[in-house]
Amino acid sequence: MRRIVVLTGSGISAESGIATFRDTGGVWAKYDFREVATSEGFAANPDLVHEFYNLRRHGLRAVEPNPAHFALAKLERELKVIGGLLTLVTQNVDDLHERSGSQNVLHMHGELLKSRCGDCEETFDQTDNLSVETKCMSCGAIGAIRPDVVWFGEIPRHMGETLTAIEKADLFVSIGTSGAVYPAAGFVAAARRAGAACIELNLEPSENACLFTDSRYGMAGEIVPQWVDETLAGFA
Ligand code: APR
Ligand code: ZN
Repeated sequence: MRRIVVLTGSGISAESGIATFRDTGGVWAKYDFREVATSEGFAANPDLVHEFYNLRRHGLRAVEPNPAHFALAKLERELKVIGGLLTLVTQNVDDLHERSGSQNVLHMHGELLKSRCGDCEETFDQTDNLSVETKCMSCGAIGAIRPDVVWFGEIPRHMGETLTAIEKADLFVSIGTSGAVYPAAGFVAAARRAGAACIELNLEPSENACLFTDSRYGMAGEIVPQWVDETLAGFA
């Protein structure tokens, strides 16, 4: 089991203090996703969308990676030493995987700390607030800059690389996701077709729990480091 694909969702960042989406009191209990996470919503009320992402971008300054993030960075490093490969695909737009030391992170839903110009498509590192007055540093357009995240109805990123890694994987691991949103929710079925073992590490069974060949339930900060250490010990 030297080629591992890990998919993470908001549950891996929950213990760092970042709200998940569908748990009680989660993000979608406070906001209507159609208003803040669709291109139609952005066109209708860009101020509301900028406020939504400015709050979340600013919130990143107050949070830190948790032991689950650090465990995946350790898995990536130690797999490389023994000639293995970890492909880490995240649905999350936070930077906690990178801040915990993961080198190769595929953000299939984009990143909070990046912005993109709707006119010239240039992308930028983004730490400050965005607004309808923000001017594109590349083409000069005003009001065309948006968060560089993938909204509902838009095409997720890195799908070719992700599906190729799944086809070659010995093991597919899903961490902290409800299995409610495709195409990420379909990765486990692709991994099963490819003959990979599939394990779910989550607080509770996800919507596609029945497709996994193994599962462990609990807080990611506890069960992910345990699982990583056991997996690495098995390679020794
Ligand atoms: N440890 C492990 N799992 C947890 C923890 C925790 N501390 N806290 C919550 N979870 C689990 C929940 O049980 C749930 O299954 O994390 C999952 C979070 O599910 P969602 O809130 O649906 O988040 P996610 O699966 O990441 O959503 C996918 O939907 O709205 C879009 O773009 C958004 O990327 C997001 C996508
Ligand atoms: Zn531009």
